[in-house]
Amino acid sequence: MRKISLEGLIQQVEDVPVLPNVVYQVMALTEDPHSTIQDLEQVILQDQSLTARILRLANSAYYGYPRKISTLSEAVVLLGFSTMRNIVLAATMNKFLLQEVPGYGLQRGELWRHSQSCAVTAWYIAKKAKMKQSDKAYTAALLEDIGKVILSIYMEEAYEEILKRMEEEKRSFLHVEKEILGFHHGEIGAKIAEKWNLPPDLVEVIAYHHEPEQAKENPLLTSIVHVANGLVMMMGIGLGVDGTAYPISDFALQQLGMSTLEIQQIMSDVSDLLVDEDAFLTDFLGRV
Ligand SMILES: [Fe+2]
Ligand SMILES: [Fe+2]
Repeated sequence: MRKISLEGLIQQVEDVPVLPNVVYQVMALTEDPHSTIQDLEQVILQDQSLTARILRLANSAYYGYPRKISTLSEAVVLLGFSTMRNIVLAATMNKFLLQEVPGYGLQRGELWRHSQSCAVTAWYIAKKAKMKQSDKAYTAALLEDIGKVILSIYMEEAYEEILKRMEEEKRSFLHVEKEILGFHHGEIGAKIAEKWNLPPDLVEVIAYHHEPEQAKENPLLTSIVHVANGLVMMMGIGLGVDGTAYPISDFALQQLGMSTLEIQQIMSDVSDLLVDEDAFLTDFLGRV
């Protein structure tokens, strides 16, 4: 069984492509109250293929806009800065997340579908919880499982052993993942997020999305992403090999301060948002 060496890991994280500059520019612009629609348009239009992906995403059910959006300026005006920021990030991450992740039993497109669903669900929960940083919840949930892309090759060998230990020792998937590989996918994802210079609270959410009680910087944000992931798993989206192996933590539910009824309501609202997602995914896979 291959255990990942620290050097090996650093090299793998090094090999992950840097985020394109346009993402940082868009993040800065959407946080600046003085920026205008034109500023945002100018930055995005530099990249033609990104612009095309943004428009395709803007028209998906995820963002809940009922009419056809045909130009970038229409998208900015109709969806607003905050949603545009999320769409730009999703459109940028799209190619990376579309990859097949065989070690975790995820076919091409499944990690993307899972990540996008978690992102929209986390954003929705954050809004319901009246949390100011719903965009952060979106970003963190979109990136929560990026570590799987790196761990996948190791996981292909380790999977049988992980299952065996889970069964024999009644331990959690995450625990055995770390025990056998040396790192779990949250920790590796956090390393990638650090490489991308994302803020510490986002790095923390990615690291602890399965162990929200470990969060120090922002336990609420971590809990929101944790619960979003749990709901998406319950809906059966992007389950893979480990999908059902993570219970929703009581700590996270307490942080949210929501009743079971409210959580159930969120789940039914969100499944409406994701309703024609399959059609959208096929379309995306066919054309990108
Ligand atoms: Fe995960
Ligand atoms: Fe996940």
